[in-house]
Amino acid sequence: MAKIIYVLNGPNLNLLGKREPEIYGSQTLDDVQALCETTAGRDGLQVVFRQSNAEHELIGWIHEARETASGIVINPAAYTHTSVAILDALSACTFPVIEVHISNIHKRESFRHHSYVSARADAVIAGCGVEGYRLAMLHMASRLS
Ligand code: DQA
Repeated sequence: MAKIIYVLNGPNLNLLGKREPEIYGSQTLDDVQALCETTAGRDGLQVVFRQSNAEHELIGWIHEARETASGIVINPAAYTHTSVAILDALSACTFPVIEVHISNIHKRESFRHHSYVSARADAVIAGCGVEGYRLAMLHMASRLS
């Protein structure tokens, strides 16, 4: 049976392609989903791809992944910088966790420089645009092989 990877996306990422394209680019979240599925599929991994603007929903999906998945790739968006609850949920998982940011959060406003999630992430990718998701899927596959 194929290993399952949850790819979770936080608030406002549903607006990808329309929102601040000079920072986040012109590709949509549907494009990102296709990129993840194609990349993971080549390594025999199955993707569960989700986005929510609600913290509790993301936490519920992390709990779900804990029971059913082999890894999580997460772009927590603004919750990166605020959410101890998402950190705690990820800390309850024993599989690889990869944090992705489309932009380089360290080159931006100082409030974006700290990530709660990085305290649990096994790898962090930032500043590669949506290509970062592809890199995360490749790295996930190599960690699980
Ligand atoms: C982001 C960076 C966050 O600071 C921001 O709040 C986002 C997107 C990124 O992918 O670059 O919504 O996670």
